[in-house]
Amino acid sequence: MIPEIEKLPRVKLGFFPTPLAEAQRLSSVLGGPRILIKREDLTGLALGGNKCRKLEFMMADIEEKGYDAVISTAGSQSNWCLQVAAAARKLGMEAAFVHFSGVHPEVQGNLLLHNILGVQNKILEGRIKWEGPRMVLTGNYATEKDRVMGQLVEKFREKGRKAIILNAGVDINDPYNLQGASAYVDAVEELEKQLEAQNVDANYLVFAQGLGTTHAGLILGVKVLKLSIKPVGIAVSRPTAEGIDNVVINANATAKFLGLDVSITPDEVTVYDDYFGAGYGEMTEQFLEAIKLVAQTEGIFLDPVYTGKAMAGLIDLIKKGRFKSTDTIVFIHTGGIPALFAYNKEIAS
Ligand SMILES: Cc1ncc(COP(=O)(O)O)c(C=O)c1O
Repeated sequence: MIPEIEKLPRVKLGFFPTPLAEAQRLSSVLGGPRILIKREDLTGLALGGNKCRKLEFMMADIEEKGYDAVISTAGSQSNWCLQVAAAARKLGMEAAFVHFSGVHPEVQGNLLLHNILGVQNKILEGRIKWEGPRMVLTGNYATEKDRVMGQLVEKFREKGRKAIILNAGVDINDPYNLQGASAYVDAVEELEKQLEAQNVDANYLVFAQGLGTTHAGLILGVKVLKLSIKPVGIAVSRPTAEGIDNVVINANATAKFLGLDVSITPDEVTVYDDYFGAGYGEMTEQFLEAIKLVAQTEGIFLDPVYTGKAMAGLIDLIKKGRFKSTDTIVFIHTGGIPALFAYNKEIAS
């Protein structure tokens, strides 16, 4: 293990290594590139996903500091919030969330699972839409969320609990974000061993990119371990320029945090922003085709907000010749499956 990561406090929440599986039928339907799927949807906590790795580091630190309640914020079908809720429960903590309503604020998918976990949810009005060169967050969520989270901290305090607010953001002054990216530096080492054991020489890592902390960790891991595999992010919520900035800033802050002597420049970062449609969580025809294709060739479910759109990007980039039939691609399935159930009408119609 990279010694700098080994030194970080860590609590076991998931099952690692996650499988690296050959997707032979999918590859052959797409006419060529060898595709393997890294099953981060099988991390084991709740219904799996990429945030489990990050939370192993974050929650260890939170426990060590004596917190016994966590509060966070994101969209109503947020996989991050679900993973935080499940991790909190596993460690005997309380949890509460402030969500923006997004596309599906009904008690389905992730919100249904929150209900079973018995954590509090407050939903404010808000939706992320594509307006010209920018994503815009509509509604009162942006102006109200901090006040509402403050109220939740106070309520926990009245109950004798010590609550911490966790941000899923890319603020490099927040050490928890850097621990999050560090978890994916660690994941690269895990993947390297699997590729070696399976005798696979991979050219690309393709995955869904939201805030970019996963990408930051992956690109840093690849550089530190001197691998020739190239990470390619498929944006689900932000334009390319912003995605690249997030990755560079985060990767370099994480390198500093871990004491690694490497740095990342913008020209090294690849992000495609052609596949999120009208905005975050908004339906596209391509994602629908992608999730059906992967289910019907591999028996694997992707999600509607992240991995379905990433796969739609991969399929299109293969069609356009960006990836060649001789390439080997590792698609990282970062989880998110519960949200499928919230999108039942779009998917079934
Ligand atoms: C299922 C899934 N995939 C991918 C991502 C993107 O990760 P990042 O925000 O680190 O880019 C997320 C983030 O919430 C997610 O829930």
